Amino acid sequence: MKDKLLAEAQKVLNANFQKEGFTIPSKKLYPFQWKWDSGFIAIGYAHYDMDKAESEITTLLDAQWANGFIPHIVFHTDTDTYFPGADFHQSALHPMSSKKYRSTGLVQPPVLGFVLEELYEISKNKKATLQYIRSQIDKVYDNHQYFYQNRDPLNEGLVYIYHNWESGTDNSPIWDGIFENLDSPEYDFERRDTSHVNPEQRPTKREYDHYLHIIDIAKKYKYDDQKIAAHSPFLVQDPLFNAMLIKSNEALIMLYGLLGGDNIKIKQLEKWQEKAVFQMNKKLFDEDLNAYVYYDLRNKKHIRLISSSSFTPLFAGIPSKKDAENLVNTLVSRFGGEDRYLCASFDPTSTHFRPKKYWRGPVWINLNWILFRGLKRYEFKDLARRVKEDSVQLVSKNGYYEYFDCRKEVLDSGNGAYGGNNFSWSAALLIDMLNE
Ligand code: DGY
Repeated sequence: MKDKLLAEAQKVLNANFQKEGFTIPSKKLYPFQWKWDSGFIAIGYAHYDMDKAESEITTLLDAQWANGFIPHIVFHTDTDTYFPGADFHQSALHPMSSKKYRSTGLVQPPVLGFVLEELYEISKNKKATLQYIRSQIDKVYDNHQYFYQNRDPLNEGLVYIYHNWESGTDNSPIWDGIFENLDSPEYDFERRDTSHVNPEQRPTKREYDHYLHIIDIAKKYKYDDQKIAAHSPFLVQDPLFNAMLIKSNEALIMLYGLLGGDNIKIKQLEKWQEKAVFQMNKKLFDEDLNAYVYYDLRNKKHIRLISSSSFTPLFAGIPSKKDAENLVNTLVSRFGGEDRYLCASFDPTSTHFRPKKYWRGPVWINLNWILFRGLKRYEFKDLARRVKEDSVQLVSKNGYYEYFDCRKEVLDSGNGAYGGNNFSWSAALLIDMLNE
């Protein structure tokens, strides 16, 4: 079975590879280059085609802005199967945006630091891979500097996101409270995602109104970070986003150490790291819920709901051993029932849980991969094995889809896969887990 799954996964990735040197997440539904998708995709390629792995990162970093910003979508080509496209986002409003590529003015979780480390670990030719890393690593460092200098207005060591699309967990119930208080206009536009995927598995029209409205506000300020920090109605410190940055800081420290000669950068990364880890535990760990939660900087309050993002700090080594045990108890008691596959994207015990709707409940392979690594790091070996085995079940019973039903009865019937089919990161990260 393993060989068959691996062969199918390679087929998915190879079919989604584009002649420009990057890989689309899924045909029609996501026809451009997405930032964190590219990172995960590179990890999959590294197991069988290091040139493609490197090309994935190089093409993404080629679209970096002069201020270190890396956009969440790079519009390499023109296609009308996706909305909102380059004409809506208008990245050229920002004076330092790429002159070569059109993009969004949004970011996505900062995975590239640890992706470079993964490439190095997987590589059979470490010398060549290290040479490649040397050619790209400063761009990733500049991106971290961009975050700490522009997205941390209180100088706390935690960075904000100003849009739900920046979180990667687009329509999570986490954001509902923010949207309820928004007076977004009713936009007149043609959705494209719902012509490729059943609308019951996608965000609602009203949610899209909010998504567009927040971008319009940022555009009004020409994507200026200081003005966004002052005026965006959405301004959140997200545990997943900050955990990815911390994990990537750690990876950059390790890689600069291997490369040698950049002690100033290492010292700076260590400074960011120390403060960030401290604040994650102080500000975002909720001792009553025993989980990492979100802080709404605009409305000055915690958002005390639990999602799969709540467990991602394990991957970055953030919690103490004791907090990690409590966190894992929360995971098992709320998400880990015998009748479920791990790990739902939103708390299955909550009234907001929706098992088919995108980030309101379904299982995502990238979050499972992050959780698998986090559980291993803290030596929760049995649970780590379960997450890996569950991920294999999801895919082998349903195919390389975008997201999956966590209910065993639905999944096992073969009708529990949702969103886009032949989805690149599901394939890429299964390759990595199967090679573990
Ligand atoms: C979408 O269009 O749904 C994407 O997730 C935005 O990044």
